Amino acid sequence: MLSTADHTTERPPYAAWLRSTNNITQQFLSLGNRPDVISMAGGLPASELYPVAAVEEATRAALARWGSQALEYGPVEGLPALRDAIAARISAATDGLFTRENILLTTGAMQGLDLIGKVLLDPGDLVVAQFPTYLGALDAWRPRAPRYARLDWTLGEPGFAETLRAAKFVYAVPNYSNPTGVLVPQQGRRALLEAVVAAGTWLVEDDPYLPLQLDGSAGPSILAHDRAARGTERYDGPVLYLGTLSKSLVPGLRVGWVVAEPKIIQMLALAKQSTDLSSSVFTQSVALSLIEGTVEREQVARTVAAYRARRDALCAAAAASLSPWFEWEVPPGGMFVWMRATHPGIDTNALYAHALAENVTFVPSSVFDPSGELRTAMRLNFTRNPPDVLAEGVRRLERAVRRYLAA
Ligand SMILES: Cc1ncc(COP(=O)(O)O)c(C=O)c1O
Repeated sequence: MLSTADHTTERPPYAAWLRSTNNITQQFLSLGNRPDVISMAGGLPASELYPVAAVEEATRAALARWGSQALEYGPVEGLPALRDAIAARISAATDGLFTRENILLTTGAMQGLDLIGKVLLDPGDLVVAQFPTYLGALDAWRPRAPRYARLDWTLGEPGFAETLRAAKFVYAVPNYSNPTGVLVPQQGRRALLEAVVAAGTWLVEDDPYLPLQLDGSAGPSILAHDRAARGTERYDGPVLYLGTLSKSLVPGLRVGWVVAEPKIIQMLALAKQSTDLSSSVFTQSVALSLIEGTVEREQVARTVAAYRARRDALCAAAAASLSPWFEWEVPPGGMFVWMRATHPGIDTNALYAHALAENVTFVPSSVFDPSGELRTAMRLNFTRNPPDVLAEGVRRLERAVRRYLAA
């Protein structure tokens, strides 16, 4: 665990927000590299499927096309040609008109979350977040010290309309949410949008898992619903939509985007200027070459087929080993199975140590709860490992549960 107290007494202390954070993500990334440990913890893609040769070819093509411009500092908002390409993609997906002014290219969607925090949050501001919540978003906003309220998708809880009015923004991952894998139905999206518009707040729609539709289609985004409802020439609605190439191509490009109305795009660009001047124009130019051709489409098809088999293998192994103590739904997309304990004696924070002793890891639910109190579930990743390794991982988890309950 991260120690934030190990500064020397002669030097000024670290900033206060560090006392409320953790290095869980770093731990998971490093455990993923230990050959003796089966990691079902990190949200990592199957790296053996990465299109290395196509990226090499796209890199040559990008350097031939852009020359030294690809190696320069870039415009804060990103490579204009890639902004145009993303605007065209969003226009097609929403059946509306988006232009480059609606697009900010970011260093992964993760940076979009960080910049939204910088632009919208003052200490103590309220965020209404889908619960449980993506750990990376909680991490990104921790230095801004927000308060959290649960997003009630039924909109029926007493006082929820007032909560929305008091919020700086709503945060949701409607497609195959991290950590639960839940696909929010279209009716729920439309109802939330209406409530957000009525409350006069912002809505952050984080959509990294859109390409990973394993069963059926995800359907329109909340941004698409808003675009259709407005019908204005230029998008001026409350949705800040985050996308990325991390799941459809490779995370190493670190190419993501925010789609929003032009004024807040300018504010986000202002915040980005003091964060990193600009994202890498080099990887943006390579990304452009990749998405202009057929590479992304082929990569998504290959990845989805592999992930479907992996998800099914994990769920079959879990049905054989973990059903006495856990329940879950088979996720229709994304990268995770969310397992809820049905046995009253299970605290997944405590189970974690036993799992590590059996050389297997998962993410305990507490890290997805802003208050850290949810200790009855765990997130299992099914994309990183092939089916036989997942089956062995689940057998190790079963041993860990038995060992834990016997202790
Ligand atoms: C919900 C969610 N948002 C954002 C991200 C960050 O994605 P990127 O790799 O584009 O920074 C992830 C990463 O897995 C995620 O799960």
